[in-house]
Amino acid sequence: MLAGQPIVILRDNVEVTSGMEAQHSNIMACKAIAEAVRTTLGPRGMDKMLVSPTGDVVITNDGATILHELKVEHPAAKMVISVAEAQDDEVGDGTTTATILIGALMEEAELLMKKGIHPTVIAKGYNLAMHKAIEVLEANAIKGNIKKKDLLEKVAATAITGKSIESMKSKITPIIVDAVLKVAQKDATGKNNTVDEDDVRIKTIVGDSLDDAELIEGFLIDKTRCDSGMPKRVSKAVVALLSQPLEIKKTETKSKIKITSSEQVAAFSEREKAALKAFADKIKASGANVVLCQKGIADAVQYYLSHEKILAIQDVPEKDMKAFARALGGTIVNTPDDLGKDVFGTADLVEEMKDVKVTKFMGCKKAKTVTILIKGSNQIFVDELERAAYDAVRVVMDAIEDGKYVVGAAAIDTELNLEINKYAATEGGRVQLAIEAFARVFEAIPNTLAENAGLNAIDIIVDLKKEHTAHKKYAGINVLTGKVEDMYKAGVLEPMRVKKQAIQSAAETASLLIRVDDMMISKSAAQMAREGKA
Ligand SMILES: Nc1ncnc2c1ncn2[C@@H]1O[C@H](COP(=O)(O)OP(=O)(O)OP(=O)(O)O)[C@@H](O)[C@H]1O
Ligand SMILES: [Mg+2]
Repeated sequence: MLAGQPIVILRDNVEVTSGMEAQHSNIMACKAIAEAVRTTLGPRGMDKMLVSPTGDVVITNDGATILHELKVEHPAAKMVISVAEAQDDEVGDGTTTATILIGALMEEAELLMKKGIHPTVIAKGYNLAMHKAIEVLEANAIKGNIKKKDLLEKVAATAITGKSIESMKSKITPIIVDAVLKVAQKDATGKNNTVDEDDVRIKTIVGDSLDDAELIEGFLIDKTRCDSGMPKRVSKAVVALLSQPLEIKKTETKSKIKITSSEQVAAFSEREKAALKAFADKIKASGANVVLCQKGIADAVQYYLSHEKILAIQDVPEKDMKAFARALGGTIVNTPDDLGKDVFGTADLVEEMKDVKVTKFMGCKKAKTVTILIKGSNQIFVDELERAAYDAVRVVMDAIEDGKYVVGAAAIDTELNLEINKYAATEGGRVQLAIEAFARVFEAIPNTLAENAGLNAIDIIVDLKKEHTAHKKYAGINVLTGKVEDMYKAGVLEPMRVKKQAIQSAAETASLLIRVDDMMISKSAAQMAREGKA
């Protein structure tokens, strides 16, 4: 108020929530999101069925996918979801873990705030504890270079445990490791290994075949030649990549041609035929023996191309065209007029596969692309197999690049819990309480793994702490036997990078959210109308 006049700063459509109410609202939102995914964690985790407004069904165990499908409104909930999505993009696994950690960090923060500890002190404690957590991870990392194929297989197997693909675990694990090893390269320094994510592709096929997987050294497209007269197999392929249709274009404006004699009809169709034949002739003359066309190919052109023994595939999606251009070392051009030596892609062999409507391109010029082909009996199931295989491919890539592993099944989490707790005592003061709270958050992992496996979480956590205090740092929960055992021996390994990323992003997001004491949400006119405020 100024001289009795109110000063309007915010517009009518801005909803303000302040103080404890804002903090509470953010905490509740994070807890709710964590609650939504916690039952999917670990080998005994369950799946979720999600149905979109249009009736599409997704059945999944993947944290990021579940959260992506939940169309949430709350801003803090949206932030948690973006953390899970970033986790998926950066490292490919650990999305449920990251979400559970944020939920637990916010829950602990709420208890501290109730005790009167200021949010900035909590954020400071969380930050110190996060750095300590990374130190503990580094100190406990098991090192293994790219030649340790057994470690890589264990990492892949751990990532797919509990997912629907688990039934194919023994078959798919070596396939995934071989696939990634085939495309791994040394970086510019020549010291580190790198893997380009785009070089390993996963292709799924739905058919009446049994669930199966196969490694193909090359690039696949689930399309075949457009005319049965074309060759099924072309070796030393010279590939033309065309973006425009090989058809006669309709004119933009309506036009009429007046034909008065039968000669004119014949001449007209001759001209049309000649124009279509010219497409095929130009392609032949350019030296290409395979054509990938992003649009349609007219029947007559298909006929002429098959006559010239050229293999052509039509309606190739733009995304695949770009990937082909990259792998085959070619350039996408508009029409056959633009073809020339410098725009062709090349492959040693292009061949149609048996039984399935797929064409494979092997021995590609540029990238050492490999494809993992997964077959299954229905689309919903195959989609989930693909997501699980993707997690496994990504963890193997992470492990190859860093060569550092940690023991999963709550072994590393218990180590983090104890070590951070010890560190808290060295800090003292109120910040100590925040660091201790951060340490407790790592109990959320054994707690959830045990609960999901129907085990007594309290007994398990007590056992874990006892073993770790006795320096058995690989002791974890064997959910199959229900006992606390050496999980390194049991082969439950994860790339260190997955844990590190989950801890860092959970801690940073929680610190950001707890410092918020005012939320100003601008609403659209439609939202205001719905809420009866306009
Ligand atoms: N055989 C096993 N025994 C016990 N725990 C296991 C075993 N295999 C994996 N785990 C643990 O399960 C957890 C991972 O579960 P899950 O894959 O469901 O979640 P996530 O990786 O966090 O998220 P998402 O895979 O959905 O992105 C890790 O803590 C891992 O150590
Ligand atoms: Mg996982």
